[in-house]
Formats: sequence, structure tokens, C-alpha cells
Amino acid sequence: MTQRKILVTGGAGFIGSNFVHTLLENKSDISITVVDKLTYAGNFRNLERWKDDSRFLFIKSDIADKEDLFSKLEGHNFQEIAHFAAESHVDRSILGPEEFVKTNVLGTFYMLELARELHSAGKLKVFLHVSTDEVFGSLGEDGAFTESTSYAPNSPYSASKAGSDHLVRSYFHTYGMPVITTNCSNNYGPYHFPEKLIPLMILNCLQGKPLPVYGKGENIRDWLFVKDHCLAIDMAIQKGKYGETYNIGTRNEKNNLEIVELICSLMDKRHPEGAPHNRLITFVKDRPGHDFRYAIDPSKIEKELGWTPKYSFEKAMEETVDWYINNQDWWKEILSGSYESYYEQQYKGR
Ligand SMILES: NC(=O)c1ccc[n+]([C@@H]2O[C@H](COP(=O)([O-])OP(=O)(O)OC[C@H]3O[C@@H](n4cnc5c(N)ncnc54)[C@H](O)[C@@H]3O)[C@@H](O)[C@H]2O)c1
Repeated sequence: MTQRKILVTGGAGFIGSNFVHTLLENKSDISITVVDKLTYAGNFRNLERWKDDSRFLFIKSDIADKEDLFSKLEGHNFQEIAHFAAESHVDRSILGPEEFVKTNVLGTFYMLELARELHSAGKLKVFLHVSTDEVFGSLGEDGAFTESTSYAPNSPYSASKAGSDHLVRSYFHTYGMPVITTNCSNNYGPYHFPEKLIPLMILNCLQGKPLPVYGKGENIRDWLFVKDHCLAIDMAIQKGKYGETYNIGTRNEKNNLEIVELICSLMDKRHPEGAPHNRLITFVKDRPGHDFRYAIDPSKIEKELGWTPKYSFEKAMEETVDWYINNQDWWKEILSGSYESYYEQQYKGR
């Protein structure tokens, strides 16, 4: 059997680490190299279970530092590149957009240049670029984003992702490279950094802290379980058509208040000492430029690649809440800040 050799950028982050787990748990004929800068959002703990597995290699590098990136990856012959690395938090992009332009635009450009070398050498089978539905802007009450929806990004984060999507597209049309882009909706699940809505609410419930909800909690997102997303990405890598884009979502629209209320009711059963948790809900000033609604039409990936989600929203939310309850060391290390030195401690002298 031919071995798949995959480079995963941003594999120490939320979705990237779930992607690594999905592949290594289910496939033996595979080797995965993760390249990650280990920013505040990258945590080597997320991958530590694989550190002695011969199918796994970790390389610390910044995709926006061309010299470091190219020198560390020289001589590796990857057939597949799954590009997750990005600055990903909208609120941080409002406070400091520069890192977003560096990593998301320049970093993606360097990744494409690295892929172009592999392509010229006849090695590259596919470059899969992971993007977001936020590039399409905001929806009103009706409709859903399709692959032909015009781009209209509203935050520095979504604008930087839109820029990277256009670069990826251009490498197909200009250099004939085997690129594919996926645009997905909001993910949730294990290993999600606790600044994002769902993990933040779960952890605040566990600690008896206020649950801050923007505005009146009416903003709507289309929630996608990270494990379904990872299976969709792997399917797009293996069966997707070069030069195409695929929207990934599960027709699962909920407003923020509904999500927070659901977390509170799950916590009431699983952590009764804090019940009723919805007493902790606090409405706070809305985020500037807050997109009202996102919704994905996933018909294309369903019809053309045969992808459908495996998990129900209710079960996946239960699994998510239980994961945070059962992995308190993971998030306590993050909240204390000590996780940032964990990789250095492990790899000192190597
Ligand atoms: N989380 C979501 O709901 C969501 C939704 C749509 C799209 N996406 C996209 O999916 C991808 C992964 O998102 P996530 O939620 O896992 O993000 P994350 O913030 O949890 O992880 C990002 C990872 O990239 C790494 N990274 C950041 N800058 C880097 C650089 N310059 N060089 C190398 N590594 C770097 C970080 O260390 C981290 O490990 C991103 O491209 C994001 O835009 C995420």
C-alpha cells in the first residue's frame, strides 16, 4: 500500500490537532509532519500522545518566516499539504490586525511557494487550504452561502483569510497547481482554545464566572462538530477536484443565546453544584462590525464527494461538555499560561 506523506500546518491548534488525531487513529499507512509556530493558540499538549509514534514528526517554525520555514522543511517530500495555520480569533484581529496579515496572507503565500517547488518536482498531489465562511460577509434572515457567493469580508480576520483564498485560487489558474479550498462554518469540540464562545462558556460555568454574551445574543452561526469537519477535509483531500472550493457545514443554525442556554442546561446535569448555570448569563457591549448571521449550503460537498456529518448536534455538544469536564488539567494549564513552555521543556537539548 502506498504511504500518504502529509504536511499539516497549524497542527497544534484546535482543528489541526483534531485532524492529526482523526488520521493517526484511523490509518496506519500514513506519515504526518506538523509545522507550527506554537503561538498562544498552539499547544504541544494537543499532540503529545503521538510524540513517540514513528508516523509523526513535529517541526516548530513560523510559516511567515520564509528562510526558517524552507530550511526546516528542505528535503521532505510531502504529497499532501493540509494548511490550517492561521491567526483565527476575530476579536484579536480587531485589536491587532498585523499578525493576521503576516500569518494568514504572507504565511499562506510562502506555503504556496513551498508547494510550488514540490509541484515542479512532480511530488505534490494536493494542497488543501482551510478557510472560513466569514469571507462571504454577513447574511440577513434568509439564504445561505454557496461556493459562488461573492466575497465581502468585514473584519481584519476574514479579510486576511479572503486574501489567502484568492492567492490559493491564483496558483491553480497561474501554475496549474493541485489546490483545493474549503470554507467551513464555526467549529466546536475538544481542544478548542478557551477564548472562543463554546469553551469559554463551559469553563466559566465550571468556575462559577459570568457568561458574557455579545449584544442580545441574537447573532446566528451554523455550528459544525470538529470531527465531522476533519472527515470532510480528508475527503476533499482524497476526492476533491483541483481548483474547486467546497463549503462545509451541517445546516445547524443557532443563535449565541441558544448555544449558551444549551451549555447551561448540560452543565446543570453534569455539574449540579453550580445550577442553575443560566443565572451567570451577562449581556455585554456588542463586538464592532459583528456579522449578524452565517449559514452554509453544503450541497456541493454532499453531492460531489458524498460527505455527510456523522454526529448529531446534541450528542456532539454533550461530548464536548464532557471533554472539558474530564480534561481539567488541559485547560487549567492554559488558563495559568504554563502550557506555553511545555514544548521547550520536552525538547530541550534535542
Ligand atoms: N475554529 C473555527 O471555527 C474555524 C472556522 C472556519 C475556519 N477556520 C480556519 O481553520 C484553521 C484552523 O483554525 P483553528 O480554530 O484550529 O485555529 P487555532 O487558532 O486554534 O490554531 C491555529 C494554529 O496555527 C498556528 N499558527 C499560527 N500562526 C502561525 C504561523 N505564523 N506559523 C505556523 N503556525 C502558526 C498556531 O500556533 C495554532 O497551532 C484556520 O485557518 C481558521 O481560519 C476555523
